[in-house]
Amino acid sequence: MIVKKKESFLPYGRQHINDDDIAAVSEVLRSDWLTCGPAGPAFEGSLCQTVESDNAIACSSGTAALHLAMLALGIGPGDVVITSPISFLASANCARYVGAEVWFADIDPETGLISVESLAKLLGRDSHSRVKAVIPVHLAGQPADMQAIYKLAENHGIKIVEDACHALGGSYSADGKTVPVGSCEHSDLTVFSFHPVKHVAMGEGGAVTTNDSDVADRLRRFRNHGIERERFVDSDLAYNSTGKPNPWYYEMSDLGYNYRLSDIQSTLGQSQLHRLKQSVTRRREIAGLYTELISEQFNQSNLRPLLTREYNNNAYHLYITLIDFEFYGKSRYEVMTELKKHGVGTQVHYIPIFLQPYYRDQSLEALTDCPYSLKYYESALSLPMYPELTDDDCKRVIGRLSQVLDR
Ligand SMILES: Cc1ncc(COP(=O)(O)O)c(C=O)c1O
Repeated sequence: MIVKKKESFLPYGRQHINDDDIAAVSEVLRSDWLTCGPAGPAFEGSLCQTVESDNAIACSSGTAALHLAMLALGIGPGDVVITSPISFLASANCARYVGAEVWFADIDPETGLISVESLAKLLGRDSHSRVKAVIPVHLAGQPADMQAIYKLAENHGIKIVEDACHALGGSYSADGKTVPVGSCEHSDLTVFSFHPVKHVAMGEGGAVTTNDSDVADRLRRFRNHGIERERFVDSDLAYNSTGKPNPWYYEMSDLGYNYRLSDIQSTLGQSQLHRLKQSVTRRREIAGLYTELISEQFNQSNLRPLLTREYNNNAYHLYITLIDFEFYGKSRYEVMTELKKHGVGTQVHYIPIFLQPYYRDQSLEALTDCPYSLKYYESALSLPMYPELTDDDCKRVIGRLSQVLDR
């Protein structure tokens, strides 16, 4: 009797931990420092080198990094922050943490990225002077149109925080050179996440990069309870009779948080960062293969991947397709369920944030002003994407998709 080998389940994303990672973490577990030791600054140094920024401030998650960015820019009640609705909740929530209002710009239907036209429209409103920052999201690993956003933001005197949680290892061409995501060439700050499905997996973790040293100082302070250890206000308490600083002394100048990253996580991140180039290269190969197979087997008007602009190097955290489920006569629920039965995991990135009950009342206008986001939501489906997928796995994914859609 021939026993058919069961096909392994392919999730939409997963981390890769190798023996080097395990050895590095074991070593730190045996060391004197589980947190606040040398691994944090070492990871930050490597991240600066990787993305070509002057400063990197590592912290406990991408969400914490976005919150720190809002705090460091001094955004607060009465201010407005604009972001894309096609993102994870944290891209908008960070503004709410500091009491600011969120406006949603629509997306470009080709790429799923924030639409510069829609952003310009919001900045043309009567109340535009309340807008203090824009958070472009590099959806799926493709950089938003940073040059155009930079020009617009400069004209309106607003700050830019890149949400690059999907885009470590990505880059774009501008003025004849390659600009790495995170270098802050066209922004004030860039935010990363090191959640397990991301390019560097730490369990939980995040970072902010910036070339502004004052902003970097504020980020470090807010990350650690608002504590200052050098520039003291109260000299009577701070110094002894000979003018030397008291060794136990610290001051709290701002209301900060404990958003620190442990040495265990930093070490895992450092080990993973060594493989970033290799892993992004493989992700691009997988995307290339998927795109080729899709163009062979489907009509582009019914099923296509998000478009990558020619000036962008997509880091492919995700591979998102847009499917006309009505044309195929199957709901997304049915397609996802049947694919799962065939061992193919899929996911939807994302439900427009303004549809969330929390945001519904505050962002009613977005329901009419973001038609492309709503249309995108009807059709988006992410296929498995992680560097360990083999070419055969990719063929199996597209084969099963074809079968389920009855092509
Ligand atoms: C676009 C985007 N921004 C922010 C975050 C928040 O990152 P974290 O999960 O590390 O808090 C995520 C996480 O998935 C994300 O996808």
